[in-house]
Amino acid sequence: MIVLRILGLSSKSYKIICIFAKIKKMIVAKNIYKTYGTLEVLKGVNLHIKKSEIVAIVGPSGAGKTTLLQILGTLDKPASEKTHELFVNGISIKNLSDKEVSAFRNQHIGFIFQFHQLLPEFTALENVCIPAFIGGKEKKETEKRAKELLDFLGLSNRYHHKPSALSGGEQQRVAVARALINSPAVIFADEPSGNLDSVSAKKLHELFFKLRDEFGQTFVLVTHNKELAEMADRKLEMKDGVIV
Ligand SMILES: Nc1ncnc2c1ncn2[C@@H]1O[C@H](COP(=O)(O)OP(=O)(O)O)[C@@H](O)[C@H]1O
Ligand SMILES: [Mg+2]
Repeated sequence: MIVLRILGLSSKSYKIICIFAKIKKMIVAKNIYKTYGTLEVLKGVNLHIKKSEIVAIVGPSGAGKTTLLQILGTLDKPASEKTHELFVNGISIKNLSDKEVSAFRNQHIGFIFQFHQLLPEFTALENVCIPAFIGGKEKKETEKRAKELLDFLGLSNRYHHKPSALSGGEQQRVAVARALINSPAVIFADEPSGNLDSVSAKKLHELFFKLRDEFGQTFVLVTHNKELAEMADRKLEMKDGVIV
């Protein structure tokens, strides 16, 4: 490339610079396709998300937002016959085995869903600890960290409550603490405030920005909430399986 000669760069050092650029990005996705039978749900999605960025994915129901989020979050796989790239926190996901992907997800990724998905028979504290225990972390240290997170989220007097004894907003904040317990590089949230009243929703949204400002947390949010989408650093609009 002539531009490399102008800059006085060898193609080897250019490649190294490209690798570093990818590492600085939290997510790089190229050519993401997904089909269910004959239904093409994702038709070549390309995106990149920077570290500490809060990105909102918006669009009509059925546009493919959840499917995309699950692929970016390594819960699902893109169509295998297409050539795609997916880097999360500098790691190429397609080069990992299923077992390695599970371990990667546990260590680097947090999820928040519309319906909190807390385990009903466990207390708030236990629910928060579970991903750390799965990751092999020690009990005492994990509980200490879980309590710190619950305190930070205003749930100091709710450690031993089961989900059914918590309000919707409290349940969702427990889910946030659970998403944070392994200090993930990125948190994916699918309609996180979709089931909350407007006051609880606003508090939850403010919490995302507080976590970004204080800890540099990266968020990818799918939302129908206009206020949240407008607050985000960037809004990506999906329609019929592509970003428009
Ligand atoms: N597991 C599945 N099997 C078949 N079709 C699916 C599956 N998951 C999603 N779809 C279809 O893919 C399309 C996109 O779904 P989804 O990603 O959930 O959209 P959104 O989150 O934007 O509402 C929809 O038409 C949906 O019915
Ligand atoms: Mg959805």
